[in-house]
Amino acid sequence: MKALVIGSGGREHALAWRIAQSPRISKVFVAPGNAGTAVEDGLFNIPIQDTQELIKFAKDEVVALTVVGPEIPLSQGIVDTFRAQGLKIFGPTRNAARLESSKEFAKEFMRRHNIPTAEYATFDRAATAHEYVERKGAPIVIKADGLAAGKGVVVAMDVDQAHAAIDMILVDSKFGAAGNKLIIEEHIVGEEASFIVVVDGKNALPLATSQDYKRLNDGNLGPNTGGMGAVSPTPVITPQLHARVMREVMQPVISGMEQEGEPYTGFLYAGLMITNQGEIKVLEFNCRLGDPETQPIMLRLKSDLFTLLENATQGTLNQVEAEWDRRVAVGIVLASQGYPDAPRKGDVISEIPKAEEDAHIFHAATARRDEQWITNGGRVLCVTALGGNLSMAQRRAYQIAERIQFDGRQMRSDIGHRGGRLPKAVK
Ligand code: AMP
Ligand code: GLY
Repeated sequence: MKALVIGSGGREHALAWRIAQSPRISKVFVAPGNAGTAVEDGLFNIPIQDTQELIKFAKDEVVALTVVGPEIPLSQGIVDTFRAQGLKIFGPTRNAARLESSKEFAKEFMRRHNIPTAEYATFDRAATAHEYVERKGAPIVIKADGLAAGKGVVVAMDVDQAHAAIDMILVDSKFGAAGNKLIIEEHIVGEEASFIVVVDGKNALPLATSQDYKRLNDGNLGPNTGGMGAVSPTPVITPQLHARVMREVMQPVISGMEQEGEPYTGFLYAGLMITNQGEIKVLEFNCRLGDPETQPIMLRLKSDLFTLLENATQGTLNQVEAEWDRRVAVGIVLASQGYPDAPRKGDVISEIPKAEEDAHIFHAATARRDEQWITNGGRVLCVTALGGNLSMAQRRAYQIAERIQFDGRQMRSDIGHRGGRLPKAVK
């Protein structure tokens, strides 16, 4: 059988690579894919992005299952369109994807269903937002309502920063229509974790837990990025917390969406903060897998991903289980000069080592020029490796990462640091 993965990043490389390991799968198409998926065994890039053309392709090639990586096509309703043509696709409908595409929708939904989250208020006028900040003080968090490629959140440590963020979003329209409204949220202190489940409308199958390192620089300093590395599992989510997240967050989301007539299917990602008092707070939902969390998670998945996702599209997730490699996986992102603001392209990459049993290098933004690999965007590669414990996995991943040189390379040296705990000083 054949599968189709939509997207072009490191997340999609990892997803397509793992689907291709299924003994039931002969080919995985990646649309449009990247230079790494172009040379991966079993994967075939197709240069199509238009939904109608993708539908035609899926029908012509008799694709058994399509899996969507990024949020934009989901928020535009690609799942609804494929399904209307009788094609099997894994992801949320356009309405269900509002859990990510509208922070206001997500917050109101959480309020309706008693899902623990930070206190908040919504604004569409700058003057009232400014007044609210004056009343509440700092630190405080300002978020654009819509999709802003991970850049729409400002954690303001003082009120001046908060006022500037309000103006940037509502007055200067830095995020266009995604910033017609904003959310102002209570600042929560604690440990972050990424918790992702596979959902079939009724049942949730948890993937291994993970933690993303969002800041550009060591010690969790510098600007927020799409993610500079990730670890799986994260010690932040103890077995007790795991059970509570399923009970207090995931199950209420699934039953709430069903009750509201928008059953949720797809990957559901909760960005969580675990407070020092042991409370769980949902910071955000994503209607897709995380990037780079997917890379270490996929390296650890031992079950047949195609079969899991097929069950998820048939409403039979309760009949399958996921088996995980007990080792720890660490993924280290190598980013280009200027990332995240103005990434430079075209730097020559010294070498890209071959995959081994315990390590895989996922491509996000590479290209070929004159028989060489070059950088072709912000996050270039994610070196992902397994180890018997966290420090062994770190050592293995950094050993490989150090072999990959290019001008301007940016790489954090503390991915997995302290078992995923932030140094106290920058908490
Ligand atoms: P989001 O895109 O909503 O996950 O926000 C990006 C990052 O901002 C998160 O990973 C957190 O580090 C931080 N953040 C978001 N909301 C809050 C909050 N209410 N309190 C503290 N930090 C937050
Ligand atoms: N790594 C965070 C995200 O994919 O949203």
